[in-house]
Amino acid sequence: MIATLNLPRVLRVGGGSSSDLPLVLAQLGIKRPLVVTDPFVRSCGFFDHICGSISSLLSEDAIFSECVPDPTTDSVRAGLLHLDAASYDGLIAIGGGSAMDTAKAMAAMQGLPEPMRQYKVPYSLDRGLPIVAIPTTAGTGSEATRFAVITDTETQEKMLWVGLALMPVAALVDFELTMQMPYRLTADTGLDTLCHALEAFVSRKSNGFTDPIALAAMRAVVQFLPRACADPSDREAREAMMLAANQGGVAFANASVTLIHGMSRPIGAHYHVPHGMSNAMLLPAVTEWSIDGAPAKYAHAARHMGFADSTSRDAVACSALVEGLHRLCQDLSVPSPQSYGINRDDWVDSLQLMAEQALASGSPVNNPRIPTQDEIVILYERAWTAT
Ligand SMILES: [Fe+2]
Repeated sequence: MIATLNLPRVLRVGGGSSSDLPLVLAQLGIKRPLVVTDPFVRSCGFFDHICGSISSLLSEDAIFSECVPDPTTDSVRAGLLHLDAASYDGLIAIGGGSAMDTAKAMAAMQGLPEPMRQYKVPYSLDRGLPIVAIPTTAGTGSEATRFAVITDTETQEKMLWVGLALMPVAALVDFELTMQMPYRLTADTGLDTLCHALEAFVSRKSNGFTDPIALAAMRAVVQFLPRACADPSDREAREAMMLAANQGGVAFANASVTLIHGMSRPIGAHYHVPHGMSNAMLLPAVTEWSIDGAPAKYAHAARHMGFADSTSRDAVACSALVEGLHRLCQDLSVPSPQSYGINRDDWVDSLQLMAEQALASGSPVNNPRIPTQDEIVILYERAWTAT
């Protein structure tokens, strides 16, 4: 099998790497950047510091800070209006997945005709303005992927967009920007990383390049995420989680996510559950159901994460994996859809549509065990009360 790998041209990983922005912009020849962020990040001290370092390049109005959580076609349109107002030659995304995905959509959409929904997968957005990504959460890995998730304002569908235009040309991965992340955000984004890594590892598109990266990321999450949640100032844990998040992004960008992400996006779209949390709601149940498709790989992952010892048989290691994932989700207070407060009747009414949208995203066909629409409905029901 030939593995096709896409990566940013520049990755600078480590504490303080966001200070390299002027150098990286000069290397890339970007002279008139637009900064894309959200109101919260704009209020953070580090944001002023980063923008101050490139003040000579920032024209008046060169900051667009109206990114919203779970970016929509409407919010991207607002960004495009801002982008069209001046002749910018690149975008700097500073923030979590939402800011990065907004910048990606803006970079790729500039000059393209509406409606935006025509650009969801399988369309490939390959040309656009260069993007420099500076993540401020440890989770999405979006700085290293050629994907964006944009919600269609009219239909509420979480569309997956793909293409080389969505891949940042450079990413500055600086864990020091994550030190202020609150507990819930740390837990949810960290569990998103675990799903990226585990899904990439068992994906039908997994390969020799992504497997070791995925394994390293998942082991780091199990070891360091509880520490980062328990003590936000734990620098070693924050650093390990930031690296894991980036590795998780590299892994799934080049091996695909699978059924968890496929089923998670509709939950996020219909019930506004944060992305990492909706993944985690599904993680134990979907993993348990999928094990039959690749028991040796799931067992290997379980041993590598320390859920099972190195001499355990596959069946034992796989059971330990499901148990370990349940325990991790419980330790990090992940709610079930029920305890999150989703209305039971709404949930039941939406199951067929969510299952249809999960399949349409294309991710479930990469799962080691490929589900039918009815099986996805059953899995949603299994996840209703349990994490
Ligand atoms: Fe994700």
